Amino acid sequence: MKKYNFLYKIVPSVQLVNTTFQKNILGRITKMKRKVLSAILAVAMVATMMVGCGSKEETAAPAETKTEAPADKATEEAAKTTEAGGKIGVAMPTQSSERWINDGANMKAQLEALGYEVDLQYAEDDVQMQVSQIENMIAAGAECLVIASIDSSALVNVEAQAKSANIPIIAYDRLLMDTDAVSYYASFDNEGVGTAIGEYVKTAKDLEGARAAGESYTIEFFMGSPDDNNAVLLHRGVMGVLQEYLDDGTLVCKTGRTSFEDTCILRWSQETAQQWCENYLTGFYADEDLDIACTAFDGFAYGVKAALQGAGYTAENWPLVTGQDAELMACKNILDGTQTMSIYKDTRLLAEKCVTMVEAVMKGTEPEINDTETYNNNTIVVPSYLCTPVAVDKANLEELIIGGNYYTKEQLGL
Ligand code: BGC
Repeated sequence: MKKYNFLYKIVPSVQLVNTTFQKNILGRITKMKRKVLSAILAVAMVATMMVGCGSKEETAAPAETKTEAPADKATEEAAKTTEAGGKIGVAMPTQSSERWINDGANMKAQLEALGYEVDLQYAEDDVQMQVSQIENMIAAGAECLVIASIDSSALVNVEAQAKSANIPIIAYDRLLMDTDAVSYYASFDNEGVGTAIGEYVKTAKDLEGARAAGESYTIEFFMGSPDDNNAVLLHRGVMGVLQEYLDDGTLVCKTGRTSFEDTCILRWSQETAQQWCENYLTGFYADEDLDIACTAFDGFAYGVKAALQGAGYTAENWPLVTGQDAELMACKNILDGTQTMSIYKDTRLLAEKCVTMVEAVMKGTEPEINDTETYNNNTIVVPSYLCTPVAVDKANLEELIIGGNYYTKEQLGL
């Protein structure tokens, strides 16, 4: 990515250290050594937790965390790592969105099939809860951590704890920022997601034709969470395609909110998207219809749908509504016309790529990487595997989604 070219020039030595660290150090640390280190850390962490009474981390109540966490228990846990694999901590952000439920389930199933023991935790978009869950995973003897963060910069301390215990970390879907403790990153091409959304709007509305004919369409934007690097990249991708049409008036954003700062929605909240859309429709679209709701997430598309229905939109004037994730509900909405498109991100494939990274750090092998330049987390450039996102709409849904066994016809009500 152009913006990072300069940074990349000054960080290759850091990256080299990171790569060398992965290959030569992590690869050589035996499981036994890690178990001993984990056990020592477990005791140290429990002691820290006892000293740090009243701290935020300590008061958070992790979803599935066992209540009894005495030192012996943690040590015992650390020592009884399975012979076949080892214990892997998988920290996921929330169960409020279907995609993360699928991500967690896929990771668990694929890791267990390889003989690993999996500690899967969801933090319900509570940052401190995620910190506590990861601390508990370390204390319980995790040998590798897979993290899909809520706030990508908020885990720096717990990541440093993992690093000092030689527990490698894989960033899952969302880049972990401001840390050198992350070994690999598995995701989709996040700017590519935005580009695909922008291109879809451009083609579906024939913006070139509209420009030539001097016509225009109204558009509003609902972008992702400011603490998620993916959201920034997605916005960049969308604007890479649509900015020129905003500039020449082919697209008209009546609220004037097009920048990332003005359109980002904290924690990807569906409720906020709905509220914003309701306000926009009342305040800016009383006399003219909204033609395009460019949203970054299926959850936003659901919120927008509710707002449009509340404002009396029907099939006759329903706008083009974009989304991301191809959730089951979104696919149903695409079939009934209340959402126009989504981005199909096969979470099975993502889990597969991430699992190869876990195997690599556990066994000292090399995972498949296809990007060593783009994902600079402000500290290092993280070696990544990026899967390809694909736009899905009514025309290709059956072929992609049903043909790819993502959902069955029955699930889609077909
Ligand atoms: C993911 C998206 C998802 C969003 C909200 C992002 O980090 O890349 O696929 O829609 O989070 O959960």
